[in-house]
Amino acid sequence: MKKILVTGGCGFIGSNFIRYALKNSDYEIVNIDKLTYAGNLKNLIDVQSDKRYKFYKADICNYELVSYIIEKEKVDSIINFAAESHVDRSILSSQEFIRTNVTGTNVLLELTRLYSLERFLQISTDEVYGSLGPDGKFTETTPLSPNSPYSASKASADLLVRAYNHTYGLPALITRCSNNYGPFQFPEKLIPLMIINAINNKPLPVYGDGMNVRDWIYVEDHCDAILKVFEKGEIGEVYNIGAENEMPNIEIVKLILKELGKDESLITFVKDRPGHDRRYAIDATKIKTKLNWKPNHTFETAIKETISWYLQNKSWWEEIISGDYLNYYKKWYEER
Ligand code: NAD
Ligand code: TYD
Repeated sequence: MKKILVTGGCGFIGSNFIRYALKNSDYEIVNIDKLTYAGNLKNLIDVQSDKRYKFYKADICNYELVSYIIEKEKVDSIINFAAESHVDRSILSSQEFIRTNVTGTNVLLELTRLYSLERFLQISTDEVYGSLGPDGKFTETTPLSPNSPYSASKASADLLVRAYNHTYGLPALITRCSNNYGPFQFPEKLIPLMIINAINNKPLPVYGDGMNVRDWIYVEDHCDAILKVFEKGEIGEVYNIGAENEMPNIEIVKLILKELGKDESLITFVKDRPGHDRRYAIDATKIKTKLNWKPNHTFETAIKETISWYLQNKSWWEEIISGDYLNYYKKWYEER
């Protein structure tokens, strides 16, 4: 049985991936996570006693500790989800983004080399490509043109992965996915933030004119694509992942209000995000044709399931929004 070291497995996508992989493969999984504000052990309560799963609290920047874990656990491969992931936080302060996303990735690449691991999969984002005009989509050959400290740190990591593959022949691959939604997403991101504010009858803060476009994919479809790239992807290649579901933010916000039976008067247009990317859209032809992948969920049904997950899991997010999250919310939405 092969063993994968998953980093950042207590976050939104990492926790969904671990659950998905335990169910749909026979890999053993070692999860290392620093448990930052975004990492939550409760995201994996249902698998914590699975014999194929093990957790270590560890920072990916800690070379000695990660090295010790790789050696002790005899892992075969790494999938790197660990990152600082929120654009707005990177605008307030970027240092942690450079540390974790760039230095942390470098540590993992060095250790992949040291232990001659079989595979290194970097979980990246479409945001490295920058912003699109009204037409066209990102392909794997679109030049990197990141616009936020977050996307610049992710692009830097991608370039390191590329260089380690080119220079040392490291068996590395990269996925670049569009915006995810689904269970366990931290409520700083658009969809969970709007669902929770709507449930609590609080204003829904829409940036700018609300016409920025994102291309949405259900997190389980992303996890399925990651597993496919991990198993069948060609070393040295980049794979875009997306579900062809572009929507302006305001449309999503209105849909959430409608679904929850709340009034549109809750919508509040607020100061725009500085440097706000206008539009993202993914061309996923490569993963579809080369790896025979396709998304299995439609936005219409998966967004309803997501909303009902947040309605049924109030204690999960009530604990989050009553903690340190309040300080961030105040800093970004009230004091800017
Ligand atoms: P998240 O913020 O929910 O989770 C990040 C996890 O990484 C947390 O559990 C956190 O504790 C952990 N972490 C942070 N710094 C660490 C460190 N130094 N060492 C170890 N663990 C650390 O993020 P997410 O939305 O789950 O995103 C996961 C990955 O997917 C990221 O690399 C992100 O760039 C990428 N991605 C996200 C999206 C999206 O829509 N959320 C889309 C495309 C790609
Ligand atoms: P977000 O979920 O932060 O993802 P990203 O910026 O990485 O794409 O934001 C998605 C879109 O929603 C983006 O155009 C910014 C917008 N947005 C708001 O209008 N209001 C908000 O409070 C947030 C968090 C995001």
